[in-house]
Amino acid sequence: MKVKYVKIENFRNLESCQINLSPGINILLGENAQGKSNFLEAIEFLATAKTMRANHDSELIKWKEKKASVEICLIANNNEDILKIELKQTGESQNQSKGRLQKTIKINDVVQPSARALMGRLIPVSFTSYDMNLLRGGPKYRRDWLDMILLKVSPGFFEIESNYEKVVSQRNRLLKTLFERGRVSVADQDELVVWDKQLCLLAGKIIKKRIQLIDQLLPIAKNYQNKLSNESEELSVNYLFKMRESKDLSGQSDDTDNLDSEISLSTKDKFSKEELLLLDEIEIAKSMFKLLKDYRFEEIRRKQSLIGPHRDDIVFYLNDAEAATFGSQGQQRSIVLALKLAELEYLTDKFGESPVLLLDDVLAELDTKRQKLLIESVNTDKQTIITTTHLSHFSDDYLSQAHLLNVNKGQIKRTKEEMATTS
Ligand SMILES: Nc1ncnc2c1ncn2[C@@H]1O[C@H](COP(=O)(O)OP(=O)(O)OP(=O)(O)O)[C@@H](O)[C@H]1O
Ligand SMILES: [Mg+2]
Repeated sequence: MKVKYVKIENFRNLESCQINLSPGINILLGENAQGKSNFLEAIEFLATAKTMRANHDSELIKWKEKKASVEICLIANNNEDILKIELKQTGESQNQSKGRLQKTIKINDVVQPSARALMGRLIPVSFTSYDMNLLRGGPKYRRDWLDMILLKVSPGFFEIESNYEKVVSQRNRLLKTLFERGRVSVADQDELVVWDKQLCLLAGKIIKKRIQLIDQLLPIAKNYQNKLSNESEELSVNYLFKMRESKDLSGQSDDTDNLDSEISLSTKDKFSKEELLLLDEIEIAKSMFKLLKDYRFEEIRRKQSLIGPHRDDIVFYLNDAEAATFGSQGQQRSIVLALKLAELEYLTDKFGESPVLLLDDVLAELDTKRQKLLIESVNTDKQTIITTTHLSHFSDDYLSQAHLLNVNKGQIKRTKEEMATTS
């Protein structure tokens, strides 16, 4: 698939423009803080209507402006479609993040009932320094990584995820009310059970989908990890269905490990992969339902839902040692690269078309061996958009095939005549 052009208005620091892209290699060249990553983020936004960088969509609107939009022309499956997201601040608040935000999705100029219409159309795979958070960051980075892939391959996941988020927030509201009231009646218990059931059924679906995805990504990632480590390092993964930051409820000890109910994806651990994959979403939901009963009063005391996929984590191991804790910097970089290359290979297989590659200043961070593996893996017929501060990372041969764009203070300009038209 290819992005033919990108049209931007008031997205982050970018000036309004329409940029035509080459179906091959595109290089965005610019100094720090000029808008290179913002341009890639704008493209990624059209894949899932979310971005990994923004906590709230209002952050995407240019400061002091009230609205923003991104539009792309996408060529995929021999079709040409115009995908567009418009953001409009409607609240009176001076503080952008506190105002109300209207988000409109358009496909070929037709307003869509929800962002779901975008799912499974544009499939980008990005490589950024931000990816190191997959190992070094908090659990949210790892959950978001899996969920972003699931949104792309499984359009129904959008509803499951958004319903789950709604149930969590409504359930949290009820927990808060019960806490403030200071007592829990039988009717309250019944109401909580209704929410619990909804929560667990959706949680079972999310966890099951995540586990299936890990199971598909892991063999591919293992293969890359083998290549990068000369066959000496075995990558494995655990999915932790986890209670975090919690005290022992009996008050006897402070051992948080006791509270972790662990679902393992490693053949070396308690469950075999086969056993795990046989565990269906209802069984997962049931085990969570039991756990919720045990944590009823702790959840009320904390006024929040403490168990479920919004709290889970994924842990990576190299030769059975936890990679985030024991891995060297180089090993951690290799794992991240192996995981991202696995994502790329998986999505390419799944769609029978190559995703659009967004490489955000990553070559500079990789040593020659990893650079080589990355370039070999992407250097086929894939459309690639690379940002960089220097052209010195690229060979003359690579540069001769590339279309160059200059990014300066939010302005993107062609450096070759055929590359761009600025509106
Ligand atoms: N909503 C916004 N409105 C205006 N400017 C913004 C907004 N959000 C971010 N910026 C600014 O955009 C600028 C460019 O950010 P970007 O991450 O694209 O830089 P970059 O060119 O990728 O730089 P680097 O090479 O350091 O990664 C930053 O200075 C940032 O403060
Ligand atoms: Mg950047």
